[in-house]
Amino acid sequence: MNLTVLILAAGQGTRMKSRRAKVLHELAGRPLIGHVCRTALSLSPSRVIAVVGHQGESVAEVFLNEMKHMAPDVPAATVFQHEQRGTGHAVRMAEALLAGTDGTLLVLSGDVPLLTGETLKTLLDAHHSDKYAATVLTTEMPDPTGYGRVVREVIGDFGHIVEHRDASPAEREIREINAGIYAFEIATLFPALEKITPANAQGEYYLPDALKILKHDGHPVGVVCHHAHEEILGINSRAELAAAAAYFRHRKVSELMRDGVTVIDPATTYVDADVTIGMDSVLYPNVTLDGATVVGENCRIHSGSRLSNATLADNVTVKEHSLVFDSRLDTGATVGPFAHLRMNAHLRAGAVVGNFVEVKKSTLGEKSKAMHLSYLGDATLGDRVNIGAGTITCNYDGKNKHATVIEDGAKIGSDTMLVAPVTIGAGAMTGAGSVVTKDVPEHTLVAGVPATVKKKLDTPTQ
Ligand code: UD1
Ligand code: CA
Repeated sequence: MNLTVLILAAGQGTRMKSRRAKVLHELAGRPLIGHVCRTALSLSPSRVIAVVGHQGESVAEVFLNEMKHMAPDVPAATVFQHEQRGTGHAVRMAEALLAGTDGTLLVLSGDVPLLTGETLKTLLDAHHSDKYAATVLTTEMPDPTGYGRVVREVIGDFGHIVEHRDASPAEREIREINAGIYAFEIATLFPALEKITPANAQGEYYLPDALKILKHDGHPVGVVCHHAHEEILGINSRAELAAAAAYFRHRKVSELMRDGVTVIDPATTYVDADVTIGMDSVLYPNVTLDGATVVGENCRIHSGSRLSNATLADNVTVKEHSLVFDSRLDTGATVGPFAHLRMNAHLRAGAVVGNFVEVKKSTLGEKSKAMHLSYLGDATLGDRVNIGAGTITCNYDGKNKHATVIEDGAKIGSDTMLVAPVTIGAGAMTGAGSVVTKDVPEHTLVAGVPATVKKKLDTPTQ
């Protein structure tokens, strides 16, 4: 069976009140259209086409990128709908591209991101087993305002769909709504689309009218009514985007728990779509894991922390209120509380970064420690290095960044200024408050400017 997917994404999304096309708004770190692509791809289609129009260039670019990223082998194409004259008109834009293609066309909406592949499989199974020319996905909405209503015939068969704006008060009472998701046999679809007229409140060519026309012309039309209305939510406003994000979060966190992750408070746990977490890891309340973050097994992420594009091996602990961006923590590493790691910071096995330490573009070797109040930038630390409180790599001379190298077992005294470029040899030590401007040989102690008595102070009066 040949399956082509068509994603409608040309509309502006006026109700979003945004300068950005609606389908580019993000839900759990992925653009709406990316969610739709992912669902479409779970059906192994032979091709995925997007109809773009409003901000078409950017929508096309994001769509093609998402497709290339998720399924480089599935052909993806875009067609332009220059004027948005309705969903029926949008599908017609793909006619030339579909010439010579037979089989089924699954039409998805770029603004319905929560739909699952299982639901679409149910739709396609019904479509094929009952040999329908068209099958529409519907659901009972608690509040159907704004959606197209499904008007059934007396015996319960599909009759037609009426848009909210065109519906009579009696029709507006109907709670079964059109999800905007359809399976069509390509052979009979396009002749039916030609017969659609824009005789409605919006003066648009409505795709749902194709169902009525097919039925009128004697083709069987099916309905699959899905129980989970949350999945069918179409995003038209910011409020709906927030509602969909909440539902998505709930689903994502439920999946994590099912797979063996302890989530102390699902309601305040924010995990993006692409994040993966290993078994027996624990997420404390109020954590955010976003982007392409990967967490291994048996890790603990404590409250108030955010991991963004972070890679954690097993047994890693991130203590309260720490930020880990684009960085890597090897097995047994510990971070925080109040630590900030960014731009390819890399902690090797068992390394520790403690309170108020910032690490940028630096590597800490195995079991190396920077426990308090430090800045490590453009630095490479060997194994078992100890960084005393207040140490700073002075990596910037006002124009350029310079590197600091601290070799195995070196001990940096509290408040050392390491003026880069500089290398501290293996096993060397710096005294508290040293300002190190030259390389320090292995196993050597350097120390700077000790304070001396200048005068006796008056006894303070209180
Ligand atoms: C549509 C359905 C409605 C259904 C609802 C479900 C029609 C006429 N109505 O209404 O029955 O209940 O979806 O969410 O189809 N688009 C284009 N080109 C256009 C117009 C729209 O590509 O000319 C795209 C939009 O970008 C969007 C999708 O089609 O992704 C649906 O369009 P939208 O305007 O959101 O339709 P609704 O009013 O929500
Ligand atoms: Ca919509």
